[in-house]
Amino acid sequence: MRGIVCAEIGRFAFMHDLPEPAPAAGCAVVTIKRIGICGTDLHAYRGRQPFFTYPRILGHELSGIIEKIGPNEEGLRVGDRVGVIPYMHCGTCIACRGGKTNCCTDMKVLGVHIDGGMRERISVPVSHLIAANELMLDQAAMLEPFAIGAHAVRRSGLAAGETALVIGGGPIGLGVMAFAKSRGAKVVAMDVNEDRLAFSRDWAGIDDTVDALSDPLGRLLAVNGGELPSVVFDATGNAQSMSAAFAYTAHGGRLVYVGLVSADIQFHDPEFHKRELTLMGSRNATREDFERVMEVMASGAIDVDRYITHRADFGDMIGRFEDWLKPESKVIKAVVTL
Ligand SMILES: NC(=O)c1ccc[n+]([C@@H]2O[C@H](COP(=O)([O-])OP(=O)(O)OC[C@H]3O[C@@H](n4cnc5c(N)ncnc54)[C@H](O)[C@@H]3O)[C@@H](O)[C@H]2O)c1
Ligand SMILES: [Zn+2]
Ligand SMILES: [Zn+2]
Repeated sequence: MRGIVCAEIGRFAFMHDLPEPAPAAGCAVVTIKRIGICGTDLHAYRGRQPFFTYPRILGHELSGIIEKIGPNEEGLRVGDRVGVIPYMHCGTCIACRGGKTNCCTDMKVLGVHIDGGMRERISVPVSHLIAANELMLDQAAMLEPFAIGAHAVRRSGLAAGETALVIGGGPIGLGVMAFAKSRGAKVVAMDVNEDRLAFSRDWAGIDDTVDALSDPLGRLLAVNGGELPSVVFDATGNAQSMSAAFAYTAHGGRLVYVGLVSADIQFHDPEFHKRELTLMGSRNATREDFERVMEVMASGAIDVDRYITHRADFGDMIGRFEDWLKPESKVIKAVVTL
């Protein structure tokens, strides 16, 4: 079987003799058709993910067709189009028992902690498949990145009529914007990059944008009738922005860290306290979030065609990957096709 292995930092190897996935109880064999590439894959390749070990088969944004499956309660059958929930949770820890499988204490993500889907076939627990016959394969592979945004928005409790600020207009922030809009909120995007703000305006149909480098607080108040947004999402992965976000959140508001950094975040307690702020982390997503994405996608409210800015065939991916690392390529989402 063919597959692409990240053999070591900065080097992929195209393999022709990977072992076929072993049939296991409760698992289905899925023929992979689409692989979305995200920041995690780029960091793994560049060696900027401290917990990564090599060699590793990357790929966690997956869709495909069921090739083998046993009798199952989900009613899935050979030939069904599926998306994959790549978060392998333990099912027994305190988080899993409480239904928060997205932050399992022993989380193993396909393509991160264990081998993922950059290969022709993969074995996946049936419990981690999402039936997606009503979606296109491209859409089904994008369930995962959008589920991150859907989860963050659900967690925030954002309601129609509220204003949400989304800091960071990358692929993750764009998903947050789309789901914040789908809740009927007014949505403002902030970024340091004008191209990203332009894409946010065009693609997510948000209400306003704020340049993070030019009096952001003043502009934020100006576009929101003199008040701060009651919900702020930070999807930058930038510690300075995550700190600054306290000052952008209204009194009584919620600040949600969707982006993450390997650093300490500092904040001035009186700013936090006088606001009675709620600070939340948002990690991964649960099946409920995937199902919400499915519903919104099937309604046509998410333009997956324009979100996917770059493509490569499986055989060409290694040669194209370096380009996707360059800011001038203006990648939002690259997708590999098999
Ligand atoms: N919650 C989760 O489970 C989850 C899942 C996947 C990714 N992430 C994280 O989400 C974050 C965003 O991912 P992405 O792929 O969209 O990244 P990205 O780098 O493509 O986008 C980040 C955006 O933030 C902007 N930005 C950077 N510094 C800024 C600042 N100081 N002020 C305003 N804007 C700033 C950048 O210009 C860019 O447009 C990353 O930290 C990533 O690790 C979280
Ligand atoms: Zn991803
Ligand atoms: Zn667990």
